[in-house]
Amino acid sequence: MTNPTIRFIRRGQIVTLANVPPSRTLLEVLREDLGSTATKEGCGEGDCGACTVVLGEAVDDRIEYRAINACIRLAHSIDGLALWTAEDLAVDPLIGPTAPIPSRADGAARLHPVQEALVQCHGSQCGFCTPGFAMSLFGLYQNKAPGAPVTRDEAASALSGNLCRCTGYRPIVDAAVSMDRFPVQRVNEAELLTKLEHLKTIPRWGSANFDPDSIYMTPNDLPQLLALRRQHPDAQIVAGCTDVGLWVTKQHRDFAQVLDVTRVAELRRVERYPHHIAIGAAVTLADAFDALVANRPQLLSFAQRFAGLPVRNSGTLGGNVANGSPIGDSMPLLIALGAHVVLMSQRKGKTVSRELPLENLYTGYRQNVMAADEVLAWIKVPLPVENEFLRVYKISKRFEDDISAVCLAVRLRVAGDRIEQASIGVGGVAATPVRAIKTEAFLQRNTLGEATFDQASGILRIEFEPISDMRASAAYRRAVLGDLMRRFWLECLGAANASIETLVLEVRK
Ligand SMILES: Cc1cc2nc3c(=O)[nH]c(=O)nc-3n(C[C@H](O)[C@H](O)[C@H](O)COP(=O)(O)OP(=O)(O)OC[C@H]3O[C@@H](n4cnc5c(N)ncnc54)[C@H](O)[C@@H]3O)c2cc1C
Ligand code: FES
Ligand code: FES
Repeated sequence: MTNPTIRFIRRGQIVTLANVPPSRTLLEVLREDLGSTATKEGCGEGDCGACTVVLGEAVDDRIEYRAINACIRLAHSIDGLALWTAEDLAVDPLIGPTAPIPSRADGAARLHPVQEALVQCHGSQCGFCTPGFAMSLFGLYQNKAPGAPVTRDEAASALSGNLCRCTGYRPIVDAAVSMDRFPVQRVNEAELLTKLEHLKTIPRWGSANFDPDSIYMTPNDLPQLLALRRQHPDAQIVAGCTDVGLWVTKQHRDFAQVLDVTRVAELRRVERYPHHIAIGAAVTLADAFDALVANRPQLLSFAQRFAGLPVRNSGTLGGNVANGSPIGDSMPLLIALGAHVVLMSQRKGKTVSRELPLENLYTGYRQNVMAADEVLAWIKVPLPVENEFLRVYKISKRFEDDISAVCLAVRLRVAGDRIEQASIGVGGVAATPVRAIKTEAFLQRNTLGEATFDQASGILRIEFEPISDMRASAAYRRAVLGDLMRRFWLECLGAANASIETLVLEVRK
């Protein structure tokens, strides 16, 4: 098997790395191979943001900037992209350190507006978290129009994956909203696009264009992906690596061969049809939630509570669904929405696909019906219908960047006071994400009213046999499920302030 080179742009230069093992993380490469120790290692599991870096990708003649966690991202996955770390800001991000550093009148090196704002607003004390905060802010800075002000909400969302244990967040958010006060310093995108284009001409496998036996396979289209999956059923599939990365850093797992689905053009699309949208399995969580929120704005606060932004920027909806964690957040919602999954394979030279309701994908704890030659290709989500009432609730110990103890999604279609259809997805109460069939059946036989939801709460409380673990006791999970059903009823009545999300967003202002 061959080991492809990794080619990326940093400080305007092409960096080429050879012989990087497939399981080596981007953080290991930065700190240990390249000596870039400004990028810190805190938790090594995507939770603290100390290792945040920014990736740039050419998309439709512009650059998309995404802050991600280097500690759980495989180094090979950044091939063909641009990379910035905290060491790359005080110089022109495109021209790089070979060019003179722009000077202030006093002769000191000019900091990037992100860094200048952090200094002036006293946004750093011990400084361990600061490179990560600076990079999350750099991603935000580049994604805004030049000189455009940043709101406190935007800052909170951009910093949702960064923890600081000594400064306190107020000065850091102050820095975020004052970045526009400093002289504009933007990436020269036209030049970077040219360089990224040039990067594609540098061969990865010696003289060959592609090696189907490489240890890190990055197919560009679906037929190629399916062929590789058939040839290499034992290769570890990875997408954004926000689950798989922890198997590497925490369980010390080593992969002999990796099949990366994130470059497959078809799987990165959101397609719109008259009655549903089809979200490609490799669409990032950030983009997938944008697509879901566009159709159902009430999902915004739930979307913002899925991990933190760097995880949503890297992780994919397909990865969440395929991983099948019983406390995964998208599945209860997708079950309530009546989503289907499409599995694809290549058999006897032909592309074969099958479609099933999402909840039927799972057969047991992190087990599913996918055959060795199959991949998850699409998640099909029906569009909203008239008189639909939908809410999804996540109960976790922290508001941001935390996994659910319980997740409940309820969707009703009503006609007058009659419940025509009820679909309920639940997480955290069984070995897999599940549908609350008994509660659904009860609601469908009844009319809207307090008594109905009182009884539905009781049924939901005993429909499952949750376990006690470090996140919550079984008794708490049962109790909270019933309470959430009552909250759903209150929100049906229009009591929007029954929601903790509304309160938190108010407090932030
Ligand atoms: C700090 C942190 C916070 C998190 N918070 C949350 C949270 O709030 N809610 C939540 O639900 N999850 C959370 N997660 C878990 C994780 O981010 C999600 O499960 C994410 O969606 C996984 O997607 P990925 O692309 O990173 O998958 P990967 O890690 O790349 O892959 C996960 C699994 O899916 C398989 N897979 C991926 N794509 C395909 C495909 N197309 N076909 C077949 N198999 C495939 C892989 O083989 C692997 O088994 C968190 C993770 C971290 C590190
Ligand atoms: S080291 Fe904590 S998120 Fe990477
Ligand atoms: S400044 Fe010390 S952890 Fe943030």
